[in-house]
Amino acid sequence: MRGAGGRRLIGRLNHVAIAVRDLGKAASIYRDLLGAEVSAAVPQPDHGVTTVFVTLPNAKIELLEPLGPDSPIAKFLDRNPDGGVHHICYEVGDIRTARDALKSAGARVLGDGEPKIGAHGKPVLFLHPKDFAGTLIELEQA
Ligand code: CO
Repeated sequence: MRGAGGRRLIGRLNHVAIAVRDLGKAASIYRDLLGAEVSAAVPQPDHGVTTVFVTLPNAKIELLEPLGPDSPIAKFLDRNPDGGVHHICYEVGDIRTARDALKSAGARVLGDGEPKIGAHGKPVLFLHPKDFAGTLIELEQA
């Protein structure tokens, strides 16, 4: 892949998403064992997951449990039955500018390439893990 011309495309780490089979158990680990601020579970039927947000001083952790038969994290949990880090989300200024720069550098954007409204009500895109050091990357417009 070519570079993106040395421009800094990503900003702050927004969240790390962890896929789990048992959201209650995972939420308890963060709330009761680690003492973090943990939200109630929020079903996100548009995204095929139920989400718990863990708020840390500098970023969030999102705990994701499959919701419905076609959950996008079902296959991941088949491969990782104990759960695991599913994706990392970085903030970008303008998501279409970032997408176009990455695509012209040869990176693959998942889906139809058009930003969707993510779990925080902001436009998001996902980037192919094979182009990003084996990690599924989410970009969120800050
Ligand atoms: Co995410």
